Amino acid sequence: MDGKCVRTPFGPPPRASLSLVEITEAYGIVWAWHHHNGDAPSWQLPDLDLPSDHAPVYRATDMAGHPQEVCENSFDYGHIQPLHGVEFLGEVSPPRADGPFYDINIKLNRRMPLLGNLQHLVSGKVIGLGGICVVVDLAQVGVRSVNWVLATPIAPWRIRLHLAVSSHVTWGRHFPAVLRSQASSGAARAVSSGMLVALQQDIGRDFPIWHHKKHLVHPKLSHKDGLIGAFRKWASKFYPPTSRGTAGTPLVAHRPSLPNGDLERCK
Ligand SMILES: [Fe+2]
Repeated sequence: MDGKCVRTPFGPPPRASLSLVEITEAYGIVWAWHHHNGDAPSWQLPDLDLPSDHAPVYRATDMAGHPQEVCENSFDYGHIQPLHGVEFLGEVSPPRADGPFYDINIKLNRRMPLLGNLQHLVSGKVIGLGGICVVVDLAQVGVRSVNWVLATPIAPWRIRLHLAVSSHVTWGRHFPAVLRSQASSGAARAVSSGMLVALQQDIGRDFPIWHHKKHLVHPKLSHKDGLIGAFRKWASKFYPPTSRGTAGTPLVAHRPSLPNGDLERCK
């Protein structure tokens, strides 16, 4: 298939065609490759050993914004406490940029209903500028959860943000053997549905900021702002060399005014 229109219900097809992108499926997600020159993929998705008992549950929201801004949020340690109400306890290991991937491992303290303070590890892998995989290890309650934050550009300066969650429950081994697989999957899916609501509420606090923020080439950063500078330097590799500004800052800085409008829920 080459994307050309081959027939219509009304007569001879017009000379029309769709542009094609290469796709692949991984982790229960369909990924599309885009290159400004139409070049073939120059890197592959990583092999991830993700704890999951079922296909991801997901929801999507349309908003103004840019994938780079969504990824940058993960490196902005300074906003975690004031915006999300979660205590940042520090990095578990040094952040590591490796080609098209960027790993961060941090420890957070989150106050949970009925459970009180819950310290937990958060392992994040940024995959290009298109996806963030965050594994949340809630060992105290026997849950490991994979949270995906996926920003897909759908128009200039507009994105469709998919949030997707899949989980693994360690207490599935307590189910009767004959039911174990199905019961574990059902329990994990129920956990993921709850986690997805929590993720939507948590990241929903970022939505108005992503929707309205303006990109500054030279933001006034303090050392508490985390890795924003390092992230931007790394992110510049995903832009054509001719669009890069000074100090590795891509042309994304020269964005037009964002359109106004309410965030839209994609059904
Ligand atoms: Fe955030």
